Amino acid sequence: MVDLPVVNDPRGNLTAIEAGVHVPFDIQRVYYLYDVPGGARRGGHAHRGLHQLIVAMSGSFDVLLDDGFSKKLVHLNRSYKGLLVTPMVWREIDNFSSGSVCMVLASAPYDEADYYRDYHDFLADVVGG
Ligand code: TYD
Repeated sequence: MVDLPVVNDPRGNLTAIEAGVHVPFDIQRVYYLYDVPGGARRGGHAHRGLHQLIVAMSGSFDVLLDDGFSKKLVHLNRSYKGLLVTPMVWREIDNFSSGSVCMVLASAPYDEADYYRDYHDFLADVVGG
């Protein structure tokens, strides 16, 4: 988890994220998930080389992380907390609250060749199974 800076202000709080300062990679892409219907599940893949920071900009959701050896469930519900996801980690995102927004900062442009879409292919490469 990364604690992002918060500038508290009675007019509303402000958080800024700078590449190389708050995230350990150059930010080359930003995307966000929104209007997620109840019960939907996103993710379901791993990346070969991509680094990402996931932030719950609004609402909350769960991120299940799996490196092939152990699994960890992280609940994100603060816009000043970021979850760093390194390469070769399978992730599933679900339990989205109504109106939630999941923002992802990424270290590279979209590249389908960087994805593992099949869990068994992923496992075979990380644990040699
Ligand atoms: P995907 O990464 O599978 O979504 P999620 O992990 O959130 O469930 O992406 C879904 C589709 O969206 C993918 O097939 C192509 C498109 N897409 C882009 O065009 N650009 C992007 O940066 C991303 C992340 C996805």
